Amino acid sequence: GALSAPDLASCQFSLRVGGQPCCLQKPTSTTPRYAFQANTSIPQGVRQSYQTAFSNSAYVRKYTEAYRKMKALDGDDPNDPRGMEQQRRVHCAYCSGGGAYGSNYEMHGNWFFLPWHRMMLYLHERILANLAGDPGFKIPFWNWDTSRGREIPREFRDRTTALHNSRRNTDDNDLRDRMEKGTTNRIMEVSVLEAETMDMFLGGPIGNGRPGALEYSSHGAVHMAVGEQNNPFQDMGNLGFAARDTLFYGHHANIDRLWSVWTGLLRTDGRPRRNPTSAAWLNSAFAFYDERKSIVSMRVSDTVDPAKSLRYSYENVKMEWLPSNN
Ligand code: C2O
Repeated sequence: GALSAPDLASCQFSLRVGGQPCCLQKPTSTTPRYAFQANTSIPQGVRQSYQTAFSNSAYVRKYTEAYRKMKALDGDDPNDPRGMEQQRRVHCAYCSGGGAYGSNYEMHGNWFFLPWHRMMLYLHERILANLAGDPGFKIPFWNWDTSRGREIPREFRDRTTALHNSRRNTDDNDLRDRMEKGTTNRIMEVSVLEAETMDMFLGGPIGNGRPGALEYSSHGAVHMAVGEQNNPFQDMGNLGFAARDTLFYGHHANIDRLWSVWTGLLRTDGRPRRNPTSAAWLNSAFAFYDERKSIVSMRVSDTVDPAKSLRYSYENVKMEWLPSNN
């Protein structure tokens, strides 16, 4: 059956990953709760590639400043669910291998990987938009699927800004090595083109959990390349810490974009590629804090048409791995 949204008050608060807590701020009896509905007052907008977004200096300032505020919230009030540490915990709580909310709520290695991360990114975007004072703000994506995108942009390397993280491997050669084993585009063929069925692409249902092709191939390769190679694996190399690196969100925006791309492709037999239609997938729900510190529950069905429900689409960028007949 479908999963119902976990009660954030019943997290396993003693759980630690790498010595750090995973649970989100415990709600009080007065914390507002609601079920997600598409909010048409949010301006429709386009998530752009790092290259396009960062060619606009006003965007870079706004994006950097929003992260500065998000990180400053950690110092002002560590329990503020909009802070960067709490953003890390959203991911940690749902990735802890069955700790925080119980083993059903592990969002990796099964068919909730794509929709759950879409929800997480959407709420992260709402919080950044709120901190930026721009309701139409959209996050950028890291287009590592093309050869020119296989580098960490310089905006993330400036030690003086909030985009920086000291726990990264910044050697782009390691990223290229991991992404270009074999040939330049092989990893994208495996991640997207050859994964024709929902089962291959999204992964298997919980209980029969198997990661989908996008998750285990290019998604994992980027995490491993950016995660510190030394022991212990930190930040991008460790699911408990990955979401405290600003690159995590650009990485996952690209994963999210590739899901949209996949949905628009045909199979080799000419039939459309399809997301699951079962109630166990569509009706499953997860809980998050929103930009007003309210708890919102979202269903997988809220995520399948992001332009309609979540108010964004993706910049149409050239994908050198995509055959021109698609
Ligand atoms: Cu939740 Cu990239 O992992």
